Amino acid sequence: MLPGEPALPVPSPATAPDERVAVRRRFLMCAPVHFEVAYAINAWMTPGVTVDRALALRQWTALKDAYTSLGHVVEVLDPVPGLPDMVFAANGAFVVDGIAVGARFAHPERAGEAPAHAAWLEAHGFGPVTPTVGVHEGEGDLTVVGDLVLAGTGFRTERSAHAEVQERTGRPVVGLELVDPRFYHLDTALFPLDDTTVAYYPGAFSDGSRRVLERLYPDAVVASEADALVLGLNSVSDGRHVVLPAAARGLADQLHARGFVPVPVDLSELLKGGGGPKCCTSELRPRPV
Ligand code: ARG
Repeated sequence: MLPGEPALPVPSPATAPDERVAVRRRFLMCAPVHFEVAYAINAWMTPGVTVDRALALRQWTALKDAYTSLGHVVEVLDPVPGLPDMVFAANGAFVVDGIAVGARFAHPERAGEAPAHAAWLEAHGFGPVTPTVGVHEGEGDLTVVGDLVLAGTGFRTERSAHAEVQERTGRPVVGLELVDPRFYHLDTALFPLDDTTVAYYPGAFSDGSRRVLERLYPDAVVASEADALVLGLNSVSDGRHVVLPAAARGLADQLHARGFVPVPVDLSELLKGGGGPKCCTSELRPRPV
C-alpha cells in the first residue's frame, strides 16, 4: 500500500464525495523467466540487444507487488521456454464479463502463447476459449471503457476480429486506426482511466480516429509525445491509482492534477521488447453479478 492510501475496498466513510474511487481488479501476469530480444516484431526491438534478465525479473516483481499492495489480485501463468515475449501477458486473450476471447497472434514467433493462455483460462472457469479467425492480440489492442470496447487496428489486430469480438461479447466495439509504427498496439497509445474517460496520445491515431476519441472523451487526458515515447500510455488505472512508467513524468503530473494517484514503476528491461506495465498485465473482468 502507498503511504497514506486507504486499503481496498474503498470508499471509506471519510472519503470526500468527489474523491476518485479505486475498483479492485484481477490480473494475470507471466514472469519474464525466458525473456530476451531474439527477434524484432516492433520498432522498439533490436535483436540480440543485451537484456539483464535478473533485472527484468526484479522490475516485473515490483510491478506485481505494486498491484497487490493496491489491493488487486494477481494470478500467474507459467512461463514457457522458447516464448520470450510471454511476459507480455496482455496479448494472450481478451476477457470481459467472464467471456474469454482467445488471441490469434500476427507473428508466428508468439503463436504458442495463445494456447497457454487458453489452457489457463479454461482451467480457471473461463472456457471454452477459442481463437478468433482474424488476427487479434488480446488486450494489446482491446480495452473496455464503460460499456464500450475500444479496439485498435493498423499493425496487429484485424478489423474482422473487431466484429468477432463484438459478436462474442455483445459489447459494442469501436474501431480505432493506429498509424505510427512506434505505437503498434492500442495499449501503447491509450488507456482507460475509469468507466467514462481515457488518456491517449493523439499522434498515434488516424485523423478520423482522433475525432472519434474527441467526441467520445472530451475530458480525456491528452498525453505529450515525450510521455508517449517512454510508453507512458501503457498504464493501468483502477479508477484512482495509475500504475505508469516512471519516465512519464509529465503524464504523472497531468494525472495528479486530475485527482488520480500516480504509482510509478520502472520496467526499463522490458521496454527493450517494446512493452510496459500494461503489456505485462491481462485483466480478468468478471461476469456481471
Ligand atoms: N515484443 C512484443 C510484441 O511485439 C511486445 C508486446 C507488448 N504488448 C502489448 N500489449 N503492447 O508483440
